[in-house]
Amino acid sequence: MKDGIAAHRPIGIFDSGVGGLTVLRALHRRMPGESFLYLGDTARLPYGTKSAATVRHYALNAAGYLVEHGVKLLVIACNTATSYALDDVISSSPVPVVGVVEPGVRAALGIGAPRLAVVGTEGTIRSGSYQRALTRLDGSVEIRAAACPLFVPLAEEGWGDHPVTDQVARHYLGPLLEWGAEALILGCTHYPLLRPSLERVVGPRVRLIDSATSVADAVVADHGGRLDTTAATGEVFVHLTDASENFLRVARAILGYSPEHLELVDVRDTRP
Ligand code: DGL
Repeated sequence: MKDGIAAHRPIGIFDSGVGGLTVLRALHRRMPGESFLYLGDTARLPYGTKSAATVRHYALNAAGYLVEHGVKLLVIACNTATSYALDDVISSSPVPVVGVVEPGVRAALGIGAPRLAVVGTEGTIRSGSYQRALTRLDGSVEIRAAACPLFVPLAEEGWGDHPVTDQVARHYLGPLLEWGAEALILGCTHYPLLRPSLERVVGPRVRLIDSATSVADAVVADHGGRLDTTAATGEVFVHLTDASENFLRVARAILGYSPEHLELVDVRDTRP
């Protein structure tokens, strides 16, 4: 384990940028005694517009970096990376790996709505990961999927409650609402940051399924016995691949505090 990281092994989390902080926040609330090492691959953001091979390469770098830093559990807090690289990361990682797609799918099926819509990055939607997981777990559900490429930059900008975001959301979500979607799976960890605008656009009858809380529930359900859900002494380490003022501004808004242990790092040549 590298120096400076918590005395006991942290939980590793990665995403391209601020989106995975929604997962970090949900996990930390459930397990205040745990320490977390969050890697934001800000130098290579966004992942959602890149090819499968590139996202796989980035995900393996990020996972390798976190494993090298002694994490005991790896959470891929990115739907695009989960969609393209979950199996590769699992097969190369010496520690358990949790992705974001399946927990979101299970939460969505749990509400029993027959018409489910899923939104995500171009990569996530093109990969068909949600469509496959939904059909595998419940063949009777009707699914519509839409890529929303402008949502990630809006979330990175901190425009979660903004007229421009309302307008973009109406454009992307209009056809899904007309079709009669009863629940909308937010298949990108950046999207919960747009919740105020999204809620305004979809209205009270459409449930928003947030992959951040679903993944936190899944981690506690599957690994909670070995994790510290009690004491409130855990620390949060944030490593970024590019110095980003924007990241810090939005991170403060999401977490409610400024990350204390912040480092600029290079993950390019790392593999698990
Ligand atoms: N937050 C990520 C996801 O869940 C990636 C967004 C991006 O970098 O395009 O897909």
